[in-house]
Amino acid sequence: MKVLVIGGGGREHALVWSIARSPAVAQIAVTDRNPGFPADALLVEGEPVAWAVAEGVDLVVVGPEAPLADGIADRLRAAGIPVLGPGAAAAQLESSKAFAKSFMDRHSIPTAGWSVHDNAQSAHDAITGPCVVKADGLAGGKGVIVAQSAAAAHTAVDDVFERFGAAAARVVIEELLIGPEVSIIALCDGTRAVPLLPCRDHKRRYDNDQGPNTGGMGAICPVPGVDADLIAQVHSEVLAPTVAGMAAEGMPFTGVLYAGVMLTESGPKVLEFNVRFGDPECQPLMFMAGEDLVPWFLAAAQGALPERSPRWREGACCCVVVVSGGYPGRITTGHPITAVPEESAEQVVFYAGAATDGEQVVTSGGRVLSVTAWGETPASAQRTAYAGVELVQFATADWRRDIGG
Ligand code: GLY
Repeated sequence: MKVLVIGGGGREHALVWSIARSPAVAQIAVTDRNPGFPADALLVEGEPVAWAVAEGVDLVVVGPEAPLADGIADRLRAAGIPVLGPGAAAAQLESSKAFAKSFMDRHSIPTAGWSVHDNAQSAHDAITGPCVVKADGLAGGKGVIVAQSAAAAHTAVDDVFERFGAAAARVVIEELLIGPEVSIIALCDGTRAVPLLPCRDHKRRYDNDQGPNTGGMGAICPVPGVDADLIAQVHSEVLAPTVAGMAAEGMPFTGVLYAGVMLTESGPKVLEFNVRFGDPECQPLMFMAGEDLVPWFLAAAQGALPERSPRWREGACCCVVVVSGGYPGRITTGHPITAVPEESAEQVVFYAGAATDGEQVVTSGGRVLSVTAWGETPASAQRTAYAGVELVQFATADWRRDIGG
C-alpha cells in the first residue's frame, strides 16, 4: 500500500511512525517536513489531492483539523481515494462550537449548558458568573478561555472578539463543568464508532495545572480509573448517538472522532469534539498499539470497521512534551537539538516544532518534541519518560515535571 499522511507535527510523526511499521505499507508519502519522518518518505509536490490521484495512493490519513474543515476529505473521496477524516460538513463538529452544541442538543448528547452570541454586548449580558468562553471557529487551540469569575469572563469576551476577528464572529458561553477530563478517541466508519484507549491531556503550561492553556504539555494512556464500563457509557451516550446523528443529518462521520469529556458528578459530559487525533494524545496511543493499526484506518475509511476493538500493549504510556522556554508566549527558535534519547521498545521521541537545518536538527516552534515512554505501570512509564527527557539537550528546553502524576 501507498499511504499519504497530511501534516508535519508531533501527532503526524507518531502516525507516520506507526504506519511505517505496518507490513502492509510499501511507501509513505508526506506533505510536510519533520526531522523524524523516515528518510525514504516521499515529499508531496504540489496539491495533495491531485498528487494522490496521480500517484495511486491507497489511503490518506489527515492529521490536522484545518484541511478537514477545508474539505480535503471530500475532494479525496470524490476522486475515489479512501481517507481517514471527515468531510467539511462533518468537520463542523470541531470547526464550529455552535454547530457542535446545537447538534448535541438535537441528539440528547450530554454537554454543558450554552448560549451563542454574535456580538460582544449579547455575550456580556449572558455572563452570570464563572463560565467558559469559546470562539466559535477554529482558533488553533487558543479559542477557549476558562473564566473562574464573571470579571474574567467579561475580559475573555472582549479578548476573543478583539483577537480572533472573523473566527470569533460568534462566541459561545458555556456552563463551567467540574471534574476530571478524559479524551475518548474513536475510529468511525460512518455508521460505527470504535473507541481506542482513553487518554488524558495536560493542557496547562505549568505543574499542578497552573498557567495558560497550551496545545498540550503531555498525555497519558490509558487513564487510571477510566474503566471499560465508563468507556461503554461514553460510547452509548456520546459516540454512538453522534455517529448515528451525523448519518441521519446527511453528514456521515468517517474518520477520527475525539470527545473531550468531563467526568462530572452527574455523569460524563462532552466539553468539545475534535475531528482528528489529539496532539499529544496520539503519541502515547500509537505507542500503546498492540497490533498494526493501518488495517483499522483503512477499514474506517472504507466503512467497514470490524466488530471488535484493536489490541493494545499491556501497561501504560506517558508522553512528556519538551517546549521552547517562553512557550506559549514569546520563544526563540533555531537552537540545535544536540541530544535526544535513543528509540527502544520502552521509549520513542516524536518531533514537532523542529526542523533540519543543513546537517543538524534545530528548534522551530513552541512544542519542540515529546518523549513517549512505556512501562508496566503508569509510574514506571512516567519514570522512563522523565529519564528520557533529562537526556534532551537544546537551549531553552523546558517541560512540566508532573505529567502522569
Ligand atoms: N490535546 C488536545 C487537542 O489535540 O486538541
